Order: sequence, then structure tokens, then C-alpha cells
Amino acid sequence: MTEAATRNSRRFCILTWGCQMNAHDSDRMAALLASLGFARAEAPAEADVVILNTCHIREHATEKVFSELGRLRRLKRERAAAGQRMILAVAGCVAQAEGEMIRERAPYVDLVLGPQALQRLPAMLAAVENGGAAVETEFLTEEKFDLLPLPEANGLTAFLTVQEGCDKFCHFCVVPYTRGAERSRDLAAVVADARALLRGGVREITLLGQNVNAWHGAGEDGRPARFASLLAALCALPELWRLRYTTSHPRDLDDALIAAHGSLPKLMPYLHLPVQSGSDRILGAMGRKHTAAEYLRRVQKLRRARPDIALSSDFIVGYPGETAQDFAATMALVREVEFAQAYSFKYSPRPGTPAASAPEQVEAAEKDARLQELQALLGEQQRAFNRATVGCAVPVLFTGPGRHAGQVSGRTPWLQAVHLQGPESLIGTETVARITAAGANSLAATLPAQERASA
Ligand code: SAH
Ligand code: SF4
Ligand code: F3S
Repeated sequence: MTEAATRNSRRFCILTWGCQMNAHDSDRMAALLASLGFARAEAPAEADVVILNTCHIREHATEKVFSELGRLRRLKRERAAAGQRMILAVAGCVAQAEGEMIRERAPYVDLVLGPQALQRLPAMLAAVENGGAAVETEFLTEEKFDLLPLPEANGLTAFLTVQEGCDKFCHFCVVPYTRGAERSRDLAAVVADARALLRGGVREITLLGQNVNAWHGAGEDGRPARFASLLAALCALPELWRLRYTTSHPRDLDDALIAAHGSLPKLMPYLHLPVQSGSDRILGAMGRKHTAAEYLRRVQKLRRARPDIALSSDFIVGYPGETAQDFAATMALVREVEFAQAYSFKYSPRPGTPAASAPEQVEAAEKDARLQELQALLGEQQRAFNRATVGCAVPVLFTGPGRHAGQVSGRTPWLQAVHLQGPESLIGTETVARITAAGANSLAATLPAQERASA
């Protein structure tokens, strides 16, 4: 874009919270606005359109949105005093869950847009510009990703949404309400998007979905296909080096998918497989529809198929009715699996979900204590996992410059960040590096050639 065009065009800024699906939706909205001639602004203060892409998963996430709205209200007023218009939009899961209520609480919001209606953004902006306000929280049946431009490939790694929504209705979770019913994109559409990303220089793709491994559709031969077939179709693309997917549900981890981890070398040996709790009583109350033993069995099978697979997970502590004994069962499961990485949360009651009205809510202090204990163990396991790679020669996909001058950075197959003193020419390659030191969140490495030079 020429400088004059940049100066004259209107600008947008998107602030994003929540999961990778939301981050990807933000990229799609950015691509859509760019196709309408908007330029990107660095900060809300420089933007004509400010979009908050929001998350509703825990109370804290929702509250952050309203405190940000408070700040933007002042900004909008200042801009109005200077004779400038700022359009303020709330998109994402809070928009879906609260709808009109957002404009009741924050009447200065111009536009409310649910995650299934992103393609309506241009029409809604036009309506606002003509003096109206707009709210769209329908679950539109049209396929949003077929109507939104694919963001330009930007770097070596990219996310690609293949599945959206959730039918599992775990008793604590808002996602089935904010994202709607499970839908899978057609295999052909996914492969076409993947090809476009690869043409743009992407070499590692992470498939996204709230329940990504529940993906199903017609395969290349027109017969019903499950997730493992989609993975195989993508791994057959020669320019693709690495494939990942997230987030998966243990119940959809079928034998074909486990076998795919053994037979597809491009499928990276790292899997995020949320378990939430190690207590069958709590798993039952959550409506997860599997036991701790069933989870452990699947982990065992995965490790048999792909011995170097590393696991990551999500946990909730202080679920209604969780006793000290239930929590001990979670700790025991963690000790048994040994996770490479994990996220853990205090249970947060969400409006409209069955668990929120359960009578036996756990005391806040008890939740805090359990979370600390669990995080100490998970942190120890993460450090141990990282330490175990020290001394190993590991293929690293170098994706960009490092934090310090002369450094480049990348990722191991197990998603660990690697920093290495080395030439920029490494960026864009997958090169074997020797791990020399491990921190909690990253690894240091040298090139085998450097080792020889300094030996
Ligand atoms: N589909 C994924 C999870 C998506 S939500 C799955 O089924 O595993 C991401 C994580 O947020 C969940 O795994 C859970 O650990 C956490 N979470 C969801 N609702 C929550 C709540 N009400 N309180 C605390 N954590 C919650
Ligand atoms: Fe939420 Fe459960 Fe669906 Fe995951 S599977 S998104 S936790 S309802
Ligand atoms: Fe949050 Fe919605 Fe993702 S609630 S976690 S942004 S699906």
C-alpha cells in the first residue's frame, strides 16, 4: 500500500482475548477489513474502528472486557470532542452470551457481533455509519470461513480452523452456548486453505477446533471420513513439514487417530488432551463421559504408537462437590501421566451452566490452596521435561529472530521455544540443534557445527 493510501484510509484495531479460535477469528476479521480498504492501527487511540474480540470462559475473562470498555469509553468521548468518530464493536463469546445486554451496560458500544456472524461485519459497519446500532448473535447457517478471506500467510506457522462449536455440554462450560453446535468444514475446503498457506511459505499448520478431533466429513473418495483421514490428506502435501491440532477431547481420540500418531511422521509428537480431573466422581459430575482409567488407557495407547509423544492438559480445581480425596485423585493422575505442559484453573461458575447452581460450591481459600499445589507439581513436571532434552540433538523449526541480537528462535517438535546464537539464514529451515540448557519456558541450543568450532 502506498503511503498516501495508508494516510487516507480508515484504520482498525482488534483487541483479542481467549483461545486460539478467537485469535484466528481476529485474523479473519483483519483480513476482511483490509479487503475493504481499512489499514491496521497499532493502538485503539489511532483507530476509527475498535473491535474487542472477547472470551466468556471464566468470570475473570468477561470482567476484563468490561474494564477495557470503560477505558475505551473515555477515548471515544475525547475523540468525539475532537470531531472524530470512533466505532466500538464487541465481538466473540461475550457478545454471543450477553447480546443486547452489553449495550444496556455499555450504551456507547455501537456494534455487537457473535462469533458465527463475523461475515456480517461490513453490513453492520455500514448500518452503524448510517446512524444505527447493530446486534447480530444469530448462529447463521452459512459457512463463515467460506465467506471470509483467508489471512495472508505471515511467517512459517499458521492456524487453520477445521471445526467449530461443541455438542458435549460439560456442566461447567459456556462454549456450547457461545459457539453453537459442532460443525466440520469440508475436507476439500480445508485442503484448499492449507495449500494457500503453504504457497505463502507456511511450513507448520495447527488445525483448530473447540473439539478438533470430533471433525468428520466426506473424505476424498466421498465416503464418510474421520479426523485421522483429514490428517493423512494434509500430511500428503509435500510442502508441509509439521502438523499439529488443538483442542482435542479424550472421547474423540479413537484408535484410528492414535494409529495416525504412529504412522504420520509429520504429525508432531505433542498432544493437548484436557482431562480436567482425576476423580471419577467429579468427571461424572462434570459430564465428561469418561473415567480416569479410560483417559490413562488412551495415553498408554498413544505412547505405544508414538513413544516420544509429550502430553499437555487442562485442569479445573474446586469443581462443586470436589473433596480433598477427589483432589488427591487428580494429583495421582498427574503423577502417573507426567505432563510436559498444562493449564489449570479454579472453577468459575458461569451463568446458564448446570454446575453454577450446584449447592456444594467449594470455598475460595480451598480452591486457591488446591490450585497452588497442583501448579507446583505441574511446574515441576514441565521443568523436568525440558531438562530431559538437554544434551539431545533435536530438529528445530526456526521461525524468526530471537530476543537478543545475533539470536534466532524456533520450536522443537514438542513445542518448546528454542533460542540459539546463529545466522539469520537459519530462519525458514528445520535444522538439528543441540540443546545446551533448559529453563521453565524455553531452551538454549547450539548448532553442532558451533560445537565443533568451540571444542
Ligand atoms: N474443548 C476443550 C476445552 C475448551 S475450554 C475440552 O473439552 O477440553 C478451555 C479450558 O477452560 C477447559 O479445558 C477447562 O479446563 C477451562 N474451563 C472451562 N470452563 C471453565 C469454568 N467454568 N471454570 C474454570 N475453568 C473452565
Ligand atoms: Fe466445553 Fe466440554 Fe465442549 Fe470442551 S468439550 S468446549 S469443556 S463443553
Ligand atoms: Fe473463550 Fe470463546 Fe474461546 S469463551 S476460550 S474465546 S471459545
